[in-house]
Amino acid sequence: MSSDSEKHAAAEAALAYVEDGMVVGLGSGSTSLIFVKLLGERVKSGLKITGVPTSEETGRLAEELGIPLVSLQDGVQPDVDIDGSDEVDVNLSLIKGGGGKLLREKIVAFASKKVVIIVDSKKLVDKLGAFKLPVEVVPFSIAVVENAIKDIEGKPVLRKEKDGSIYITDENNWILDCDFGLIDDPKTLDEKLSSIPGIVEHGLFINLADIVLVGENRTVRKIEARSK
Ligand code: A5P
Repeated sequence: MSSDSEKHAAAEAALAYVEDGMVVGLGSGSTSLIFVKLLGERVKSGLKITGVPTSEETGRLAEELGIPLVSLQDGVQPDVDIDGSDEVDVNLSLIKGGGGKLLREKIVAFASKKVVIIVDSKKLVDKLGAFKLPVEVVPFSIAVVENAIKDIEGKPVLRKEKDGSIYITDENNWILDCDFGLIDDPKTLDEKLSSIPGIVEHGLFINLADIVLVGENRTVRKIEARSK
């Protein structure tokens, strides 16, 4: 089965976690956009939910589909957050941010009562780190952060658009894609990165996912977090 069919199967399975009256975190990336389209169909058929988008792109799609939106700034707590991931390890730790939306994604995941991650089977790994870790950085601090990342054995590369211009996040920051090799201890790396001034957030999501739905061949496998 192709990655696309697996993404679709996982996105479809996530609909089971959405009920009438819920506030739903809407993730970013290709798998999440499939989910948002499926959710839009349900809304057209009468499902009453409100969405909290994790990116401008997801917000635009949800609006086009007629999904009512609300902002975290209004003090809502999402009942469930449905989002994709770039890697998922055996402890349900994640690397996210391949699409550059990690900051709002992490805030929405943190705020939500339940976090459901939807992925195709290629995203499952024994150890995180083959996918370069996205780190969102305040532009003012870029050289300081690059040096600090090199000091902890990382190789940072500033993310660029296809035309060579610097990639700008929804919060007007920059992204360093960082090679740390395979990450033996995600928690320690999380703490080291979080202590560097100028890093706004990074793409290691630890203890945030409750459930991972993996599209696998023709089925969807559900993996639950042991504890949070
Ligand atoms: C967006 O910044 C990311 O965190 C995505 O959720 C992640 O990259 C997964 O994207 P795909 O569903 O496109 O693989």
